[in-house]
Amino acid sequence: MKIYITGIAGLLGYSIYRCLKDREEVDGFDIVEAEVPGMSYHHISLFDTEAVEQELIRGKAEVLIHTAALVNVDECEEHPKEAEKLNVWVTAQLADMCQRHQIKMVYISTDAVFDGEEERLYTEEDKTNPVNVYGRTKREGEICVLRYPENLVFRTNLYGINLQKKQSFGEWIYQSLKENKTLHMFTDIDFSPILAEELAELIHKACQNNLGGLYHACGTGCITKYAFAIKLKEIFGLKTGTIEASVSDNGVLKARRSKHMGMSNEKLRGELQIEISTPEEGIKRFYQQIKEGESIGD
Ligand SMILES: NC(=O)c1ccc[n+]([C@@H]2O[C@H](COP(=O)([O-])OP(=O)(O)OC[C@H]3O[C@@H](n4cnc5c(N)ncnc54)[C@H](OP(=O)(O)O)[C@@H]3O)[C@@H](O)[C@H]2O)c1
Repeated sequence: MKIYITGIAGLLGYSIYRCLKDREEVDGFDIVEAEVPGMSYHHISLFDTEAVEQELIRGKAEVLIHTAALVNVDECEEHPKEAEKLNVWVTAQLADMCQRHQIKMVYISTDAVFDGEEERLYTEEDKTNPVNVYGRTKREGEICVLRYPENLVFRTNLYGINLQKKQSFGEWIYQSLKENKTLHMFTDIDFSPILAEELAELIHKACQNNLGGLYHACGTGCITKYAFAIKLKEIFGLKTGTIEASVSDNGVLKARRSKHMGMSNEKLRGELQIEISTPEEGIKRFYQQIKEGESIGD
């Protein structure tokens, strides 16, 4: 397969690149300059839709995995026009482009499309009701992509190792504890996180099986942010740092957050006939990844 990835230097984009580079023909777009031996991609902004389209035609793209987005929830709230431009307008342009050239589009969405009022795991059948600009614009992006039934939408919540200086949720907990900091973690917010590396494998498998439609591609079960941090500290064997239980206060944040973001991945597991890690199994895999990275860096 000839696969293009938008946001190829981002957390998920780079994980997909690493997962696919020896198995498929991979190319991509990003505005960020990343120096990775052997990795090349196009420094083209997705707003330059003409240049993107020309490259997809030239490279005979078969699949476009669209990971790039304005992902900072508070930034989206402060700059709704920018969030709409990238998360909705660009996504709609790419969906139409893919349709014109018979390219399958895979769109990465989020658990933030739900209002988090339900205490059970959300399924693909549940009504969406985003509580902030990020969630609303990602939901509108989903609608643009799902206009074409061969396209795939994966709703997720991920962490992993960043190529760039930004830190994912898992990296932030690990670094903060290593630096002996005190973390105040929410006991009233839960989610179904998945390691970016595992999500990349799921995306690949879904493309191989030509899956279309809407799926929740997240970890199996859910965990509070507090319990996630406690598990990470335990699995990493960290003696430094303190984790204190706290409750969220929507009043102090620019954007409102949903409380219960746990999603069911049953539909995807059934369709692909696979198991997906629980949050605890994911953290164990994250630990191995970090240790491998650190021993290479030694
Ligand atoms: N990370 C999470 O916890 C999470 C949770 C749920 C869903 N998701 C979804 O998962 C997807 C991937 O998230 P991620 O954390 O991997 O994001 P990320 O690390 O921010 O990666 C996105 C990449 O796209 C680049 N980009 C931004 N605007 C661009 C443009 N106009 N043209 C070309 N490239 C552009 C970004 O550059 P800059 O860094 O300069 O912006 C970045 O390198 C997103 O669609 C997000 O909505 C993420």
